[in-house]
Amino acid sequence: MLDKIKALKSEIEQITAGTFEDVEGLRIKYIGKKGIINQLFTDFKNVPSDKKKEVGQAMNELKNLATEKINNLKESFQTKISHSSGADLTMPGEPIALGTRHPLAIVKNKIISIFGRLGFIVAEGPEIEDDWHVFSALNFPVEHPARDMQDTFFIEKDPDILLRTHTSSVQIRVMENIPPPIRAIFPGRVFRNEAVSARSHCIFHQVEGLYVDENVSFADLKQTLLYFAKELFGVDSQIRLRPSYFPFTEPSAEMDVSCSLCGGKGCNLCKYTGWLEILGCGMVDPNVFEACNIDNKKYTGFAFGMGIERIAILLYGIKDIRLFFENDIRFLKQFESAF
Ligand code: DAH
Repeated sequence: MLDKIKALKSEIEQITAGTFEDVEGLRIKYIGKKGIINQLFTDFKNVPSDKKKEVGQAMNELKNLATEKINNLKESFQTKISHSSGADLTMPGEPIALGTRHPLAIVKNKIISIFGRLGFIVAEGPEIEDDWHVFSALNFPVEHPARDMQDTFFIEKDPDILLRTHTSSVQIRVMENIPPPIRAIFPGRVFRNEAVSARSHCIFHQVEGLYVDENVSFADLKQTLLYFAKELFGVDSQIRLRPSYFPFTEPSAEMDVSCSLCGGKGCNLCKYTGWLEILGCGMVDPNVFEACNIDNKKYTGFAFGMGIERIAILLYGIKDIRLFFENDIRFLKQFESAF
């Protein structure tokens, strides 16, 4: 018995383990309920009584040795695990925060959705344009101030290549390529050589609309825009059209919507007029149809154009247009939406 204990002692002194599971296996083998050492204790009753003291002591020493050895191995693995990954692998996962849409994207999608319900499809055109699509085909006279270097970003030295100053250019691209009837809106980014301030920016966004068919009238334009205003600003909204001038529409108008904040009574937002200016519009000038090879005796149409920043500013009460381009998460995450 003593020899057996001695052999086990030197065996246990030398045990090593490659993994945490190995340690558990050793624990079961030596000090588990049915392990070797407990077996020795069962056999203890057969030890002659004069040897019992010596054997008992040796057995206790063996058990202490095995327990200590296995606990040490266990501990070394626990520290190894936490050191190697630097993390507690049993912790629940970090939640992944969802991003939010940019307010300009939300407003753009709202506009697309409203006109989509009236059958308007979406088309896009290039941001780098030529003079023809931005100015000439839209009936801008050669000496028109909008062509001036102060307003337009020209690309290098070629005065024919420029950054579009409005999305009206997409009207021309669509009319050149698709025969009427046309019912479409054109959202996009536009560029103007203007000083950046709280109220204006050199980059902003517009949505242009175009409807061309036989017998399209100014009444169609008015009713379409009234529907749009009620959908975007609320059913109680009213619109008013003020005569205006754009080279590509005749007659032209600017549309105001009744102030969504005070309902028309007058407040800070509408500068006590009761009205908010929203967009420009009009009946497509026959010269524009001619430039696009569309029969201006057969077809009439209306067009409109609005700034997305301006509408977002009014809808959300934003004070500074620069906020849209600074990408400050604290600003951007306030505009969660179904759109
Ligand atoms: N392109 C004009 C602008 O940038 C907006 C506009 C006015 C578009 C009247 C139109 C329109 O289609 O009919 O200020």
